[in-house]
Amino acid sequence: MPKHQVPSLSDLSDLCTPWCVHVAATLRIADHIAAGITDIDDLAAAAGCDAGVLHNVLAHLVGKGLFEETAPGRFALNEVAQELLDPAQRLGLDLEGIGGRFAHAWGTLLTYVRTGKPAYREIFGLPFWEDLDAHPEIAASFDALIGPVGHSAPTPEFQITGGWTPVRTVVDVGGGTGALLAEILRARPELRGTLVDFPRTVARSGEIFQAAGVADRVTAIGQSFFDPLPAGADLYLLKKVLNNWPDREATAILSRCAEATHPTGRIIVLGSVSPDDAPRQLVMEMVLLGGKQRTVSEFRKLVRAARLEVSAAGQQRSGAFVVECRPA
Ligand SMILES: C[S@@+](CC[C@H](N)C(=O)[O-])C[C@H]1O[C@@H](n2cnc3c(N)ncnc32)[C@H](O)[C@@H]1O
Repeated sequence: MPKHQVPSLSDLSDLCTPWCVHVAATLRIADHIAAGITDIDDLAAAAGCDAGVLHNVLAHLVGKGLFEETAPGRFALNEVAQELLDPAQRLGLDLEGIGGRFAHAWGTLLTYVRTGKPAYREIFGLPFWEDLDAHPEIAASFDALIGPVGHSAPTPEFQITGGWTPVRTVVDVGGGTGALLAEILRARPELRGTLVDFPRTVARSGEIFQAAGVADRVTAIGQSFFDPLPAGADLYLLKKVLNNWPDREATAILSRCAEATHPTGRIIVLGSVSPDDAPRQLVMEMVLLGGKQRTVSEFRKLVRAARLEVSAAGQQRSGAFVVECRPA
């Protein structure tokens, strides 16, 4: 729809299209077409599904601009459908992996809005992180989604006050499978790093550190970031971590960092704080976890409870909004 066109209520409330997109992605329809299977019966056989219903799904998507029906019952990829070949898109849309958790979680929005508390367990029986503990294959697809396959290699190019020269040790707290830490260490050979995340997640970091050539300068620790963190590092990074948590838990994570760092150490927060005038947003981690994107003013208050103070905050040339905290 062109940007200037006012959407209709039926466009806005259409659930059919997003579900059809997820189903087509889960069944790998684009991959089958890319492999030369274009007839609806052959596509259904390759995907292991009902040809008549699949035809209805694809016809609906063609009507919305995804795929082309080049002859009755014959399908081709158009530009948008090519995007379904991207492994990152697949991870986010696959109903049998983390994409299914995200899609179904939207069904808890009404309870979340009514109560202000995430209601993920209404659908999956457990809170989000515990659900991942109970389903290793879903946890693996989550780790892949937040890792280099899903989010591509992160840029290590954020600036810190006084530059990186005096920094020798970095702990990436909730650092996933280590992609950011690997890039930081690769860019700065004088640094040593420690990755902290769940044991199952850090267990997937070895290949990433090996590929970056930094494995000899890194330690991976499988532990909760609510427990005491490796002590004495110069920098503690929290990227896209605090935005997953309500105030009480976010304060606890910041407190663990404050307790672990030395008096001139710093906590660097990425991807969780926005300028005071940033528009409000509703995003997945709020629905899943009751997370919160905080403004700088809100964040200044939050860190005080963890005996920290914000010493710098701002948007950098890379677009990253970087906040630095020091022991108060
Ligand atoms: C949104 S991801 C961000 C990962 C990484 N920092 C990045 O920016 O790609 C949040 C991370 O927090 C980790 N996490 C959640 N709860 C945790 C806990 N209690 N202890 C340690 N890590 C945890 C998850 O495994 C996940 O890797």
